[in-house]
Amino acid sequence: MPLGLRPFQINDEAAALCGHAAMKVDDFRLLLDWAEGDQWAEYLARLNDQRRGLNLGEDHVRAALLAADVDGVLVGRTSVRFQLNELLALRGGHIGYCVLPEFRQKGYATEILRQALVIARSEGVTRVLMVCDDDNAASAATIERCGGALDTVVQAGDGDVAFRRYWID
Ligand SMILES: CC(C)(COP(=O)(O)OP(=O)(O)OC[C@H]1O[C@@H](n2cnc3c(N)ncnc32)[C@H](O)[C@@H]1OP(=O)(O)O)[C@@H](O)C(=O)NCCC(=O)NCCS
Repeated sequence: MPLGLRPFQINDEAAALCGHAAMKVDDFRLLLDWAEGDQWAEYLARLNDQRRGLNLGEDHVRAALLAADVDGVLVGRTSVRFQLNELLALRGGHIGYCVLPEFRQKGYATEILRQALVIARSEGVTRVLMVCDDDNAASAATIERCGGALDTVVQAGDGDVAFRRYWID
């Protein structure tokens, strides 16, 4: 499969903002830590710093936000966290991902996670925590396809949907 993971680049701005808007149907963010009106070049510099562990905001850990690219087309992204903080250890996990609605059910999420696991391991993460909502069948199937072993199903408070915690060794 020609899917590759790479840092976002200066010429990704239009596709990334369009994809970010498209993900709103799922109430999900393509671009983490991006706010309306941010300058794209400054945002890329922040991502670069975050990947290197520099100038981390409060509650942020060293992490890489990577574009998933198929033949030059942005189809999704992954966020690979190289450490866990308290929130990530409970709910966020080491790796998050999404596939833009128009590119789903082609195996892209599975390939994104497969490659993200290689990156996480190359940075010393040996046991990878993955979390998804209990009712997110596609994400659960993706995690299980990539070797995830279910640890717990946590009943969230305040009427929130329960979530599943998996480990991938
Ligand atoms: C979850 C998501 C990443 C899946 O992307 P995708 O590219 O369609 O997934 P894939 O094509 O790789 O399919 C992965 C598995 O999910 C299954 N699947 C895909 N869409 C599904 C759906 N709507 N319902 C049930 N299963 C589904 C596939 O059959 C496959 O399972 P299999 O390997 O057992 O056949 C995508 O739906 C998405 O971006 N959702 C919104 C963001 C999100 O939920 N991210 C994950 C947060 S934990």
